[in-house]
Amino acid sequence: MLTQVLDLLACPSCSAEVTQTSSTELKCSSCGRGAPVTPAFIDMVREPGKPDPAAPTTAQKLMESTAFVRLYEAVMRPFFSRLFAGFGNHIPDYAEEFEIYRKWLKLGEENTGTWLDLSCGAGYFTDQLAGAVPEATVVGLDISEAMLHKAVQETVGRRNVHLVRGDVRQLPFKEGVFDGVNNPGSLHLYADPVGAYEAVFRLLKPGGVYVASTFAVNDLVSSRIGVRMTGIRRTDLKQLPVQLEKVGFVNYRLIKFGSVFAFAVTKPEA
Ligand SMILES: C[S@@+](CC[C@H](N)C(=O)[O-])C[C@H]1O[C@@H](n2cnc3c(N)ncnc32)[C@H](O)[C@@H]1O
Ligand SMILES: [Zn+2]
Repeated sequence: MLTQVLDLLACPSCSAEVTQTSSTELKCSSCGRGAPVTPAFIDMVREPGKPDPAAPTTAQKLMESTAFVRLYEAVMRPFFSRLFAGFGNHIPDYAEEFEIYRKWLKLGEENTGTWLDLSCGAGYFTDQLAGAVPEATVVGLDISEAMLHKAVQETVGRRNVHLVRGDVRQLPFKEGVFDGVNNPGSLHLYADPVGAYEAVFRLLKPGGVYVASTFAVNDLVSSRIGVRMTGIRRTDLKQLPVQLEKVGFVNYRLIKFGSVFAFAVTKPEA
C-alpha cells in the first residue's frame, strides 16, 4: 500500500525523491527532511522538531478544530455554501455535486489511473472518487489533521485510498503523475489561488483535468458578512479564465449556482 503512494511523493522542501527509512518515517534522499508515517496518514507538513504552520484565517482555524469538523459535512458545508451563494439559490446536494466532478474528470471511462482529491477535507469526495474508479489510486490530501482523521472514517474499507497531510503551497508530489485533480470547496481558503493553479498544472499528466469549486465575488450582504467573519477570499469570475489560460490550461468550462460555481480545465496534450 505505502509503495504505491511512495512512487508519487516528493520532498515538499526540495522536490527530491523520498524513501522509507522505517515503518514510521520517510526521508528525503537529498535534504534529509523527515516525514512521519502515522496509522492514519503520511505527514508531509510536520517537520520533526519544528512547529506546524499556523492557520492563517478564522476559516482555516475552524477547519482544524475537531468540534467544527464533526459537524462539517452535515451542517457547516451546506450552511456556508448557502451563505456565500445567496440564500434562495439552488445549491446542489453532495450527490449532484459529485456527478458534475465525475463527468468532468471522465471517471468510469477509465477504471484505473491516479487521482488527487486536493484539500479533501472530511473525505466525502475522496470516498466517491475511490468508489467510481475502484482499480485506480486515489490520494486525499489536506493540511488539517482533524479533517484527515474524519476522512479516515469516511473512506474506511477503500483499499485504493491514501491519505497525505500536505500544504498546497508546497505540494509533496512528483510532476506529471496525476490523471485528474479534484479540488472542491477550497480555493477560498488559499492565500495564493494562482499559485495553486500553477502547482496543479505541474502535477497533472498531459491531457489531465483540473476540477474545482468555490465562491464568486458578489454584493450580497450575507456573503460580505461571511467574508468579514471568516477571512475567506472569493474569486473574480472575469479574471479566472484569464489566469487559468496564463498558467497553460485549455478548455475552460463553468457551471454556476448563484455565486457558488465549479469549473474544469485541461492540461494540453504534449
Ligand atoms: C471547506 S473545506 C473543503 C473540503 C472538501 N474538499 C469538500 O469539498 O468538502 C476546505 C479544505 O481546505 C483545506 N486547506 C486549507 N488550506 C490548505 C492548504 N494550505 N493546503 C492544503 N489544504 C488546505 C482545509 O483544511 C479544509 O479541509
Ligand atoms: Zn528534500
